[in-house]
Amino acid sequence: MNDEHRWRAAEITVSDSRRGIDADDRSGDVIVARFALLPSDVVARESVPDDLESIRAAVRRCAEHADVLILTGGTGIGPRDVTPQALLPMFDYEVPGMAEVMRHDGLKSTPHAMLSRQVVGVMTNCLVLSLPGSPNAVAECLDAVWPALPHALALLAGDTTHPEPSSPAS
Ligand code: MTE
Repeated sequence: MNDEHRWRAAEITVSDSRRGIDADDRSGDVIVARFALLPSDVVARESVPDDLESIRAAVRRCAEHADVLILTGGTGIGPRDVTPQALLPMFDYEVPGMAEVMRHDGLKSTPHAMLSRQVVGVMTNCLVLSLPGSPNAVAECLDAVWPALPHALALLAGDTTHPEPSSPAS
């Protein structure tokens, strides 16, 4: 992939009624701000409740038109946190290393990072990443996967050349 290639990017906020809508919006905004650095065009943004079928319907709508889809929220261990169980049956396959590095690097900031069940996988050539719900967690998780994200997208698009890792965004 050349440097001018623009990816199609989508964001879904799984909104958590326990937090204010402003906090939910900010997490989605952090994702969209990072998308600009890929570079990419944002083709879809959605906000859905913590509900299995609502999440799956939004994921189907977004993944159909996107190369990369990032969700925020609903990855914890509370009874309303259902994002991982919504996503896992939809994946063609998981990319466990990307979820592992986000949890691993998050522990440098907070031991609560171990409470996120965030998952990453591929769905019909769309890379789907789920992140925790707070803006700080989103930024930290994106820092963790950023060095490999362009190469991951290029591989899914069929480009098997091996460039140097990307620099973290921040
Ligand atoms: N990961 C990072 N990097 N930074 C964080 O602040 N917060 C944790 C964790 N992962 C956090 C993090 C917290 S407090 C929770 S409860 C879980 O993610 C799940 O968050 P979610 O339910 O909003 O998805």
